Amino acid sequence: MKLSLLSSGLAIFLQLASAAPTPTSDENVVQERANIAKRATITDIATTGYATQNGGTTGGNGGTVTTVSTLAQFTTAMTLQGSLLFLGLSLVQFRCELGPITLVGIGLYINKSANVIVRNIISQKVLAANGDGIGIQISTNVWVDHCELLSDLDNGKDYYDGLIDITHASEWVTVSNSYLHDHYKASLIGHSDNNGAQDTGHLHVTQHNNYWENIGSRTPSIRFGTGHVFNSYFKNMSTGIDTRDGAEVLVQSNVFTDVDEPIAALYSDDTGYAVAIDNDLGGESNTAPAGNLTASSMPYSYSLLGSGSVVAAVVGTAGATLSF
Ligand SMILES: *[C@@H]1O[C@H](CO)[C@@H](O)[C@H](O)[C@H]1NC(C)=O
Ligand SMILES: *[C@@H]1O[C@H](CO)[C@@H](O)[C@H](O)[C@H]1NC(C)=O
Ligand SMILES: *[C@@H]1O[C@H](CO)[C@@H](O)[C@H](O)[C@H]1NC(C)=O
Repeated sequence: MKLSLLSSGLAIFLQLASAAPTPTSDENVVQERANIAKRATITDIATTGYATQNGGTTGGNGGTVTTVSTLAQFTTAMTLQGSLLFLGLSLVQFRCELGPITLVGIGLYINKSANVIVRNIISQKVLAANGDGIGIQISTNVWVDHCELLSDLDNGKDYYDGLIDITHASEWVTVSNSYLHDHYKASLIGHSDNNGAQDTGHLHVTQHNNYWENIGSRTPSIRFGTGHVFNSYFKNMSTGIDTRDGAEVLVQSNVFTDVDEPIAALYSDDTGYAVAIDNDLGGESNTAPAGNLTASSMPYSYSLLGSGSVVAAVVGTAGATLSF
C-alpha cells in the first residue's frame, strides 16, 4: 500500500482536546514561515544523506498513490491510538506529503516501517505522556524534510519529550531542512546506555540544513550510531551535539551562536566521538574525542555550504515551507 497525504493551500489543523495547551504567539511565527513557499512535488525522493542508502527512500514513489486532502481522510489513513498517531504499523511503504499540516499535542510515530517520507508537517507541544513530536522506532529508510517542530520553554524540561527521536536500531535516516525550536530535549538518537545490543552498528542518521533555535540540549544526543551533521545553524542552546557510547559523528560546515557546549561527550560513562571540520563554534570548542571518521567517510556525496554561508541559506528556508 502506498499513500500520499496532500493538501494544497488547505490548512489542516489536527488537535486533541485533551492534550492541547493554549496556542501562543508561536502561531504567528508558524504562519509567517509557512508563507515562504518552496516548490516540491509528490514524486520527490530522498537525494541526501543516509536515507539514500540501502536502496534509497522513495516513500512509495512509482506505485499507486492515494491522495488525502481532508482531515477526515487523514485520520482514516492513520491509526490514532490514544494520543499517538501511527504511520503505517503494517505498511511497507508510506509517503506523506502535506502542505502543511499542523499536529497539536499528537505524537507521530513511524514504527516497524520502511521507506517513509514525512514532509511539510508542523508539530507543536506534544506532552511527554503523548510521546515525541516524531518518533522513529525499529524502522529503516526514513526521510523527514521541511518540517517544523516546537513546544515552549515555560514548563520545565520533562513536560515535553523529544522533537524527533530515532531509536531502537532505526537505520538510514535523513532529517533535512527542518526548523526545530523552543524546546528542551530536541533529538535523541539511541534512547538508552543499556540498549547497545540492539543499537550497535545501526542508527545511521544524517541531519543537514536544519535550523535549531532556543533549545536546551540534544541536537542531537547520539548513542552507539553514526551521525553526520552539516550545513546547520544552532542558535541559543545549552548543549548541542552530544556523542555517547561509542557513537561517531562527522560535524561539518555548521554555525553555533550562543551555544555553551556546541560539541561534547556528556552524560554517559562510555564516550562517543566527533570529528569537526569547518564549524563556527561561536568561541566555544569541541571537547569530544575525535574517533575515526574523516571528511571522506560518508558513503554518499553531499554539498557543503561552508560555515560562512550557512545562516543566510538556512534561516527562512528551513521549516514547513513547501508548496506542492
Ligand atoms: C513500536 O513497536 C514496538 C514493537 O511492537 C513496541 O514495543 C513499541 O512500544 C512501539 N512504539 C510505540 C511508541 O508504541
Ligand atoms: C534562549 O534559550 C533559553 C532557554 O535555554 C530561553 O529561556 C531564552 O528565552 C532564549 N533566548 C531568547 C532570546 O529567545
Ligand atoms: C579507530 O580504529 C582503530 C583501528 O581500527 C580501532 O582500534 C579504534 O577502536 C577505532 N576507534 C573508534 C572510536 O572507533
